[in-house]
Amino acid sequence: MCGIVGYVGSKNACPVLLEGLKRLEYRGYDSAGVCVVGDGQLQIRKSQGRVGVVERQVLDDQEMRPATVGIAHTRWATHGEPNEPNAHPHADDTGRIAIVHNGIIENYATLRQYLLGKGHTFRSETDTEVLAMLIGEFYNDGAGSIEQAVRAALGEVTGTYGIAVACAGEPEKLVVARKGSPIIIGVGAEEYIVASDASAILEHTVNVVYLSDNEMAVVTRDGLRTLTLDNVPVPKEVSRIEWTLDEIARGGYGHFMEKEIFEQPESVRMCLGGRLDKRDRRIQLGGLESVVRTLARTKKLIVTACGTAWHAGLVGEFLFEELAHIPTEVEYASEFRYRNPIIEDATGVIAISQSGETADTLAALREAKDKGALALGIVNVVGSTIARETDAGVYLHAGPEIGVASTKAFTCQIVVETMMALMLGRRRLMSQQAMDQYIDELERIPEKMSRVLEQSETIRQVTGEYIDRENWLFLGRGYNYPVALEGALKLKEISYIHAEGLPAAEMKHGPIALIHEGMPVVFVAPRCATYDKVVSNIEEVRARKGRIIAIATEGDEDIRRYCDHVFYIPEAPAALQPLLTVIPLQLLAFHAAVLRGCNVDKPRNLAKSVTVE
Ligand code: F6R
Repeated sequence: MCGIVGYVGSKNACPVLLEGLKRLEYRGYDSAGVCVVGDGQLQIRKSQGRVGVVERQVLDDQEMRPATVGIAHTRWATHGEPNEPNAHPHADDTGRIAIVHNGIIENYATLRQYLLGKGHTFRSETDTEVLAMLIGEFYNDGAGSIEQAVRAALGEVTGTYGIAVACAGEPEKLVVARKGSPIIIGVGAEEYIVASDASAILEHTVNVVYLSDNEMAVVTRDGLRTLTLDNVPVPKEVSRIEWTLDEIARGGYGHFMEKEIFEQPESVRMCLGGRLDKRDRRIQLGGLESVVRTLARTKKLIVTACGTAWHAGLVGEFLFEELAHIPTEVEYASEFRYRNPIIEDATGVIAISQSGETADTLAALREAKDKGALALGIVNVVGSTIARETDAGVYLHAGPEIGVASTKAFTCQIVVETMMALMLGRRRLMSQQAMDQYIDELERIPEKMSRVLEQSETIRQVTGEYIDRENWLFLGRGYNYPVALEGALKLKEISYIHAEGLPAAEMKHGPIALIHEGMPVVFVAPRCATYDKVVSNIEEVRARKGRIIAIATEGDEDIRRYCDHVFYIPEAPAALQPLLTVIPLQLLAFHAAVLRGCNVDKPRNLAKSVTVE
């Protein structure tokens, strides 16, 4: 995830900014940069790669003038490749205003067009450079001050941002603002450290001011003025940071996996950001623009992936077939690569991978490409090998996933598949009315996820009751069958409990022999077309004295009659249910691992990125 640092004080700004960036490295990034205001001029140094590369540039550069004000950034690529031109800070084309930005400017394409019309030229592919240019446009058009120019520019922007802006014309000052992306201001002795994350502040001070959404601050060495984006002063209290650096990296959670489970409402928002065109009621996936017409005529899709990403692919099979009417197959990448698969004309292959480096998935993709398939990727890590080798694709924008067990990448993979299926569906057969409904429902998902997460403590208690059981079953049907598989995988990989996931109706063809008194069986049973059938399966387990944990839809009190425990998800269309039903299963696995004293974030024998066969 991108990181911001800013400094205003009496120290040499560069080392403070670079140290701050190093504190943010744990968030993951692919390029970095600094801008200091020395002798009334902006001096920007940036590079692809590590903060250390920028540090060397700064140290080796005899022309760097000492400065006491500056901004800096680590970038996790979203719009555009991870390279030097796309790295932050971005300047306007007078070179007098520079900005660092976290978040997504959703209407950047429209603003870019407007600014091109005004004669501006762009060096990067980023939405941030568009914002820099827009601020410059207002500043040079007589806005009066950098504060007013920032306010005017933000008034034109839709999307999310945390920003820090430096201006050569007002060299003692930083302007910062926040909407949807955090900005914290450390308050030292005649110095201020701006950051997106308290870990960059902590070595200077524990005293901080938190900006809320739709607020900005003007920071000089002499003081801090906080106000709303509408220019109404907002007095702020100075709070104390109580966390250690290590706790901050984990966002106050005990484990990265827990943090990532709880981040899902936000990561899904990021994933949807700028892609649901609310005005024209359509889905816009920039990464597929070049192939969308070919794709709409595709006769068959093959999704290939491993592990959790393969489960997301199974959900995709339902989505592509139901919403876009494209026949879809899902293949284990490790099998596909050696099977000499038949690739007919007009076939698209979608490789799904969080890391973008999984050896089997990459090999499967190459095999499909060699055979003439259109190669697409759904990948989290920007610039990764799979992302580079595909003809087109969609990034997850989920932010770095550090816990080895994949959680937020899974839900964002499904969100991307849903958006793809809707976009293609609308081009093939779907009515605008149906599209409108799905767009509305997708927008509601983050808030619904938060409601499911509220049950974490209840899930922990129930998990505790069964913590000594060594065999679990997870059952679901339709869209929730892959969720059952994912629930079983999560439990086994981090708590080392044996678990199997199955389509619920398969149970009677063999696995029912396993059911015995006290065996925990998890049913993913929200309201959907097969609900009654799943209830019959629940009865079969109950008759054999299994213990039943169900994931059901809010308001379904009836199901309690058959089950020992019920966790609820809010009502949602079947196609979107996996985004909610998986969350109790992630929490169940997480709590089981903690209760059994396992290393949650680094389970034995597992690696985050499997780059070997
Ligand atoms: C499970 C898990 C793995 C990965 C699989 C693919 O929690 O993380 O099953 O999903 O190794 O990895 P990526 O998505 O990086 O290709």
